Amino acid sequence: MRPVIAVATQKGGVGKTTTTVNLAGALVNQYQLRVLVIDLDPQCDATALLLGHGATPDATVRDVLWVPRPAGDVMMRSPVHPDLYVVAGSSSLAGDEKHIDASTYDAILQDARQTLVGGVPDAVDLVLIDTPPSLGLWMQCGLAAADAYILMGEPGALGTRGMGQFLDTADHVRTEINPGLTRLGVVINNVRATSGDEAFINMLQGEFLNEVLSVVPQRGAVRDASAEGVPVEFFPGARPELRRCYRELGATVLRRLGLRPRPRTEPAGRGDRGGGGGVAPRRTGAGLVVPHNTPDPSSNVAESSRPVHSSSPHTSEGIHG
Ligand SMILES: Nc1ncnc2c1ncn2[C@@H]1O[C@H](COP(=O)(O)OP(=O)(O)OP(=O)(O)O)[C@@H](O)[C@H]1O
Ligand SMILES: [Mg+2]
Repeated sequence: MRPVIAVATQKGGVGKTTTTVNLAGALVNQYQLRVLVIDLDPQCDATALLLGHGATPDATVRDVLWVPRPAGDVMMRSPVHPDLYVVAGSSSLAGDEKHIDASTYDAILQDARQTLVGGVPDAVDLVLIDTPPSLGLWMQCGLAAADAYILMGEPGALGTRGMGQFLDTADHVRTEINPGLTRLGVVINNVRATSGDEAFINMLQGEFLNEVLSVVPQRGAVRDASAEGVPVEFFPGARPELRRCYRELGATVLRRLGLRPRPRTEPAGRGDRGGGGGVAPRRTGAGLVVPHNTPDPSSNVAESSRPVHSSSPHTSEGIHG
């Protein structure tokens, strides 16, 4: 079975989206996996990063949740890399959550795995779910659909407190909905070379023993890559050490999943300024790095405005791009 991993914590702005997108970039380019990112955050930041700032997808995760449509019908190929796919987020999910009654809330969570990932085509090797900064329905939905989650943390007292509340919620989801849910590990993000940050890392390493997957430094290039709408893997302004950081995270994630990382061995492709080999990207006016021969992903279905939750099983319909 293909692994499904949610990237989560309750606190906002700790790097959930950044980690999801950069991990996806490393996995597709360095380890030759086909990766689908499902954007469950109504802020739609992962969608903007992977489909381009200003992208207006016709179909979104809301269609998967409410209509329901198989994820394979709704997913779009990212212009960043031909093996990178996105089920776009929907800002309407924020309003939906406010109007859901208790029984629908429970049904959504109980059915989340089948609804969200039941219709992902077999050709996808790994699914990453970006979740919103809350303990609410859509974050829990991500946990309910996942095999494992990556807990995000950053130095600072608030970060630790947010982690504790999140862990209680993850335990609740595991107990009530998804008994197979495990914690893949912790990513500590935004780390500076200060004694305070070092103390925080030591504290977390003590608390989570061997679970720290990666310590990601605070770097302007991370922000710059996001502003350009590309993962660090494809961002020419990123230093090799930063790119290596996400590649190592990718390798660690694969090992923890019991998969063997298959690093790319052939020489870098023409124009691959990310240094990872393979696809030769071109730069668009919007600042995106677009691999050659990538079909226009804009031929997707319209977003539904009629929420009708159902637990009908989905079938795999192949990759649409
Ligand atoms: N390692 C890093 N170095 C520098 N900037 C970073 C790093 N990680 C994330 N950022 C920046 O921090 C900001 C917040 O990151 P991001 O959007 O990934 O957080 P988030 O947890 O997904 O936020 P939200 O909870 O709102 O969804 C972004 O501007 C991002 O570019
Ligand atoms: Mg985010």
